[in-house]
Amino acid sequence: SVDVRAGVTAVAHPNIALVKYWGKRDESLALPVTGSLSVTLDIFATTTHVTLAPPVPADMNGDAGLTGDVVTLNGRPAGGAAAERVQGFLDLVRALAGRRERAVVESVNQVPTGAGLASSAAGFAALAAAASAAYGLDLDGRALSRLARRGSGSACRSVFGGFVQWHAGTGSGSAGDVSSFAEPVPVGPLDLALVVAVTDAGAKEVPSREAMRHTMATSPLYRAWAQASNTDLTRMRHALARGNLTAVGAIAEGNALGMHAAMLAARPAVRYLSAGSLAVLDAVNALRADNVDAYATADAGPNVVVLCPRADADRVAETVDAIEAVRSVHLARPGPGVRLRSERP
Ligand code: PMV
Repeated sequence: SVDVRAGVTAVAHPNIALVKYWGKRDESLALPVTGSLSVTLDIFATTTHVTLAPPVPADMNGDAGLTGDVVTLNGRPAGGAAAERVQGFLDLVRALAGRRERAVVESVNQVPTGAGLASSAAGFAALAAAASAAYGLDLDGRALSRLARRGSGSACRSVFGGFVQWHAGTGSGSAGDVSSFAEPVPVGPLDLALVVAVTDAGAKEVPSREAMRHTMATSPLYRAWAQASNTDLTRMRHALARGNLTAVGAIAEGNALGMHAAMLAARPAVRYLSAGSLAVLDAVNALRADNVDAYATADAGPNVVVLCPRADADRVAETVDAIEAVRSVHLARPGPGVRLRSERP
């Protein structure tokens, strides 16, 4: 067990969705329109340490403790929207725990700076685990996943390692809240590698929350994508169970491009794919024409992740590295779920 007085450290990894989450049916509880399915990576870990400050006495606001949470990200004090988001999440944890101490949060991530890969999924999975333990909540995986979901939807999947499905759940309010969680899915033999191609960062990206809202409100293709996504989810479960990498890749690529198509049809369009992203998609098509089982996916940004058999990962990495718009290439494999650890970051 962990000595919570010294604070708690948790480590989590980002995940990349093979069947995407795009759109909430309830924004305040982060309940999604559709279920989604991802693979947790073994690179770009986020390590988060949470220490509690002594409680502020009820009758004064003086020296006895912190009056607000203190948040540092990669050694720098977080301000503005980032700090507010962490503070809001900690308020939720405090409400669940019936506690009122303020917290000191120090978070470090291994994502190369400026790569446009700042993963809120790893960040909120690590924060959910560290903060819930620091405030004395004893949550099982499902409850932790539901909590992480409130920080950032996709974070609920980074609670678990390997292949993970996030159930949309049913209903609204607390019925929706208890039924919308992630859990690992069974997989057959599947020697999957993921090649992350970081492309030239383009214009400043639209945050996913606003982009989802706007796509749902204005894209005539949104409903069709959501419907197709439900079918993709069922087919993906079967492809994973059979260990059929070709089917996994084909479904993942179709689902991702469909999501981007729905965004492109929004008015005005939300466009995350850049010229560099399209160059990577072209290279993936050329690899396939050359009998390499490579498939592409992309989230709310210009970077492209290529799925391929482990045996072909080096060749795929060399191919995408040769593309002018690709700034760096990172090899990943399925990785672990969130864990508490004894050392500080
Ligand atoms: O929860 P967010 O804001 O990280 O939304 C993530 C949305 C996508 O990355 C585009 C898709 C997904 O399922 O991860």
